[in-house]
Amino acid sequence: MRIIRTEDYNSMSRCAAKIMAAQIVLKPDSIFGLATGSTPIGAYKQLIEWYKNGDLDFSLVKTMNLDEYCGLSGDHEQSYRYFMNHQLFNHVNIDINNTDVPNGIADDLQAECERYDGLVKSFGGLDLQLLGIGHNGHIGFNEPNTEFDKNTHVVDLKQSTIDANARFFKSIDDVPKQAITMGNKSIMSAKKILLVASGKEKRDILERALYGPITPEVPASVLQMHNDLTVVCSVE
Ligand code: F6R
Repeated sequence: MRIIRTEDYNSMSRCAAKIMAAQIVLKPDSIFGLATGSTPIGAYKQLIEWYKNGDLDFSLVKTMNLDEYCGLSGDHEQSYRYFMNHQLFNHVNIDINNTDVPNGIADDLQAECERYDGLVKSFGGLDLQLLGIGHNGHIGFNEPNTEFDKNTHVVDLKQSTIDANARFFKSIDDVPKQAITMGNKSIMSAKKILLVASGKEKRDILERALYGPITPEVPASVLQMHNDLTVVCSVE
């Protein structure tokens, strides 16, 4: 495990972007696992800037996102597909057909999970998986006490998550109740993992994830067992 502690959110973002950029330079047809959430936005901004300066080429890059809400189509502003298009894909020369986000409106969600894992497998594991960490230690939508050996699966969102998301929707009935997420096992099959965390409020959970017991109670603690984990954080 490599831990890079940076001064603030901006330096964390630049550092994470450098690692991702180096991956593209070394292997232009890299397959990335990507995350949404607030933490990676700065790294995505930096990658866009380097692309615009002519320093990065995404033309051969492929991506697979960690998770998506069930019931939201890609043009819904709260969908993770929409987030990725707006935070990264629309601003670089990636072929949109080479970007994959679980299809939250698939008729057969189970088949969609199997399609996703089949793809991950066909790539022999993703080259670099970017992750954020939730306040309870979740990675993707793998909440505490999810088995470590789960593949991509459908999760029922906790009432607290549904309530917290309600502000983004017209009514509570419109808030998704389920999501598709890559499982801990699918995540761990990546060749390299890059975990980003920022803010004092993430300090305790990050310490527990990296140095505490490896337990499904803290899903991110599974990462201690990965043989190529880099953590870039500004949590002091
Ligand atoms: C996002 C995801 C989540 C977030 C986590 C941290 O695709 O899978 O696990 O990485 O909730 O979110 P932020 O970065 O908003 O603190």
